[in-house]
Amino acid sequence: MNIIFLGPPGAGKGTQSKRLEIRYGISQISTGDMLRAEVKAGSDIGREAKALMDAGKLVSDSMIVTMLEARIRQPDCEKGFILDGFPRTVAQAEALDDMLARLQSKIDVVLVLQVDEEALADRIAGRFSCAKCGASYNDASNPTRESGVCDICGSHEFVRRADDNRETVTSRLASYRRETMPLLPYYEASTRVAFVDGMAPIDGVSAQIDGIMTEVE
Ligand code: AP5
Ligand code: ZN
Repeated sequence: MNIIFLGPPGAGKGTQSKRLEIRYGISQISTGDMLRAEVKAGSDIGREAKALMDAGKLVSDSMIVTMLEARIRQPDCEKGFILDGFPRTVAQAEALDDMLARLQSKIDVVLVLQVDEEALADRIAGRFSCAKCGASYNDASNPTRESGVCDICGSHEFVRRADDNRETVTSRLASYRRETMPLLPYYEASTRVAFVDGMAPIDGVSAQIDGIMTEVE
């Protein structure tokens, strides 16, 4: 099963794709997480990506396509994968189609998370995650059960993303509208596309996705 998550920054792509990864035993591939790991490692890719990410701009198609292709060729992706944050441009979607054709594979469903724009900046401003296991939380909608302790691994260390501020969010949203929204007609012409009400509480969003997945399987 190969799934794409489409949605603006803060829509809940990471939250829901991590849940799907556990439920279906297929790998979540987040190009944002991969780039943040490169930044942390201080690699050439990381150095090139950091300034663009901090400004809320997209990194180059060629860099991201090369990175993604290496990732989906890894053995754990043979069972399927969940793409979170890729593709983000029509050029990336075309490169993905070529890649999948070479691997004799295809996308089974594109899940589109729909969230009101006014809610996105608040979600992003409240986001934090566990420094040890990466579990994602939110000050308002998804706090840890015990204050200051990760529900999953018990760690007391949390981090906030460098690009999670209101100025960068405005530019991330503009990139989404300009470069990623054209993917909707692109996929509607060729692939099964399912819309999900991302304004529902996190469990309600998961329930809608479960319903869609039962039809796709
Ligand atoms: P990336 O890391 O992909 O960020 P993004 O697309 O902006 O998405 P987010 O991670 O901000 O949001 P999300 O939808 O995953 O929401 P989440 O589940 O965390 O990309 C970062 C940067 O990397 C880009 O700007 C670009 O520079 C670069 N990049 C990455 N991929 C690229 C590509 N393919 N091409 C070029 N450049 C690329 O949820 C957000 C918050 O809301 C959390 O706190 C969560 O707990 C909470 N929440 C989730 N669901 C709900 C709900 N239903 N109700 C209430 N709160 C909720
Ligand atoms: Zn943790």
